[in-house]
Amino acid sequence: MPGIKRGVLISFEGVEGSGKTTQARALVDYLENKGAPFLFVRDPGSTEIGESIRQVLLNPEYKIMNPRCELFLFLAARAQLVYEKILPALNDKKIVVADRFSDSTLAYQVYGHNLPKRLISIFNRFASAGLKPDLTFLVDIDVLKGRSRGKINDRIEGLNRIYHEKVRRAYLRLAHRARGRIKVLNGERSVEELKTEVIGYVNEFLCKKGYKL
Ligand code: TMP
Repeated sequence: MPGIKRGVLISFEGVEGSGKTTQARALVDYLENKGAPFLFVRDPGSTEIGESIRQVLLNPEYKIMNPRCELFLFLAARAQLVYEKILPALNDKKIVVADRFSDSTLAYQVYGHNLPKRLISIFNRFASAGLKPDLTFLVDIDVLKGRSRGKINDRIEGLNRIYHEKVRRAYLRLAHRARGRIKVLNGERSVEELKTEVIGYVNEFLCKKGYKL
C-alpha cells in the first residue's frame, strides 16, 4: 500500500440489540472480498487475556461487581487488545474494525454509572495508548426495541432499562460532540440498507486515506 503510513481504526458502537455486530461483520466481509488488509476485533476480547476478562465482566452471577472494578477490567482488556493486536495491525497498514472501543467506556461507565469523566478520560487514553477511532458508527435504536431482539444473557444486558436509556443518551451526546468522527445510523432500518450506508461512508473515508479498494 504505497502512500499509506499507518492503518485506520473503525469502530462500531450501540446499545444492546442495535445490530452493530452484524454491521461490523458485514464490513469485514466486504473488505475481505475486496482483498483489503484488515483485522476484526471485539472489545472486550480478541486476546486470550481479554477473553478471560470478558467472561468475568459479563458473568451474570457477579451482580455485586462494583462499577470501579468493572471500569478497570474493561480498561485492562482494552490495553491488552491495543498493545497485542491493534497497534501491530495499524503499523502493518491494516484496516482495523472494532466491535466497540473507548466510546463504550464513556457511555456505559462514565455516563451509565456516573463515574468522573475527566479522570476516566485520562485512564481511557492511557489504556488505549492515546489511540482514538478514525471513524465510528453509532447504530442507534430505541432501548426496548433493541432488547426485544435478543435474549438477556449477560450481567450488563441484565441491568435495568433506565441504565440502558442513559447509555443511549450518552452515545447520542458523544456523537453530537464528535460529528466529524461518529456517524449515527438508524438501527431500525434493514440490515441491507444499513450495510449500504456503512460501505458508502467507509469507501469515501478509505479513499481519502489513500486505500484503493
Ligand atoms: P457486546 O460486545 O456483546 O456488545 O458486549 C459487551 C458488553 O460490555 C456490552 O454490554 C457493553 C459493555 N461494555 C462496557 O460497559 N464498557 C466498555 O468499555 C466496553 C468495551 C463494553
